[in-house]
Amino acid sequence: MAKRPIIARSVPTLRKALAPFRKKGDRIALVPTMGALHQGHLTLVKEAHKRAERVVVSIFVNPTQFAPHEDFGSYPRTFDSDVKALTEAKVDLVWAPTAAAMYPEGFATRIAPEGAALAGLEDKFRPHFFGGVTTVVSKLFTQVMPDVALFGQKDYQQLRVVTQMAKDLDLPVKVVGVPTVREKDGLALSSRNAYLSLPERTLAPTLARVLKASAVRIKKGEPIEMVLEEGRAEIAQAGFAVDYLEARHAVSLAPIASLKDGPIRLLVAAKLGKTRLIDNIGV
Ligand code: PAF
Repeated sequence: MAKRPIIARSVPTLRKALAPFRKKGDRIALVPTMGALHQGHLTLVKEAHKRAERVVVSIFVNPTQFAPHEDFGSYPRTFDSDVKALTEAKVDLVWAPTAAAMYPEGFATRIAPEGAALAGLEDKFRPHFFGGVTTVVSKLFTQVMPDVALFGQKDYQQLRVVTQMAKDLDLPVKVVGVPTVREKDGLALSSRNAYLSLPERTLAPTLARVLKASAVRIKKGEPIEMVLEEGRAEIAQAGFAVDYLEARHAVSLAPIASLKDGPIRLLVAAKLGKTRLIDNIGV
């Protein structure tokens, strides 16, 4: 039977658990999560094992990246089954801080990312989000001091923002983006898929299908704005409220008008009933 990972809930316990790994000279990989683990997270863990001798997974539903009207309270919390899955995935350490360990009384510092964090995508609809993400991820990086940290490409803007933050703050960690894991019908795995009703679940792959078809058309040279306009209409037609479907420079996330202006990433966000889904694809 696989050995249960160490579970640390306070910074001193975490440091104590990491010390023997460091003493041995083992490389440490961190997979930051908010729990409710699915195959996408377990793929990050698998990639982490390829890059380091020790794998740490953090589980923390971070209150600072949710607005008051968002789903912080109802976000799925499945700690016991998460630990079971992480045991099977041979994770060494689970860093599951309490809210008081992460944000003790009097906590008064917040990172304010710019650049890709102000690209007019997720930030336009969730203005608090990247400040909360970078604040918690910078803390996770300084708490764990990993050699490498793995993030899913599904949250593409987050990946760009965190990569830039690590660079700007000279944090000695390599940020690695791992391709999105999808259901057979194309739906990107997400903890929030659990919110979808059965009829919504049937419609949800529309996003991936439109992204894929739009990427093919843009690659063939069709006018980008026309392809996107038709894509938005198709998604709306399926019953979503579209927040955005955009073509952006894959690194800077700046708007892009033509294929020759750089590698293109198509990004989409749309609401199906109460569930907000995001996805993206390279062109
Ligand atoms: O992608 C997530 O699950 C979260 O935004 C992260 C990176 C764990 C920060 O809370």
